[in-house]
Amino acid sequence: MFIVFEGIDGAGKTTQIELLADKLRAAGLDPYVTAEPTGMETGRAIRRVLSGALPKTPTQVAAMFVQDRIDHNVDPDQGIEGKLAAGRAVICDRYYYSSLAYQGSLTDFDWVMAANCDCPEIRRPDLCIFLDLSPEESMKRITKGRTQVEIYEKAETLTKFRAQYMNVFQKLQARGEQIEIIDASGNIEQTAEAINKAIFKHFGI
Ligand code: TYD
Repeated sequence: MFIVFEGIDGAGKTTQIELLADKLRAAGLDPYVTAEPTGMETGRAIRRVLSGALPKTPTQVAAMFVQDRIDHNVDPDQGIEGKLAAGRAVICDRYYYSSLAYQGSLTDFDWVMAANCDCPEIRRPDLCIFLDLSPEESMKRITKGRTQVEIYEKAETLTKFRAQYMNVFQKLQARGEQIEIIDASGNIEQTAEAINKAIFKHFGI
């Protein structure tokens, strides 16, 4: 079971991933929770780009994410392939849907899609859960209690990325991908309940 959570910045992925991991643990599964950008070398370089410290073109950023994602799949210690082979359920905070939505709207989309979706060492998830929140509400949640924001965390940018996510989902659904769009505007419990329903629908647990 390989599940990805997506959403524009501030949509609440971290909280909901923890809740789903608890639920899977209670069901006797052994979830492995992971995220992109990774904490590996490739991901650390991406963090410097996101903070604004290391300027890169969108095409360079897209390539860095592809590299990080391949490492994230095949790394002998932290790789998704190894965890799935060991029988664990993998929950990942962001994956290629983010690259298609973010870098795909900043550089050549078809190239970003091919680099990710036709790559032999980037596995296709069993389910993508998109937490859908308006860019205005996202910005409210992002700026609350934070002094530093990252390069993509602006309302107009988030509006563009949200629209792009919807285009991406249409294209990927046509390729047979399973994607659930969940309203994340309510409270934590309401969103968790909607996620649980989607998990039951797809996996029967
Ligand atoms: P992060 O700071 O981890 O926050 P969040 O909790 O919202 O995920 O987000 C990483 C940032 O990287 C986020 O702005 C989206 C961006 N990103 C891309 O642009 N492309 C990608 O392929 C991935 C995985 C993330």
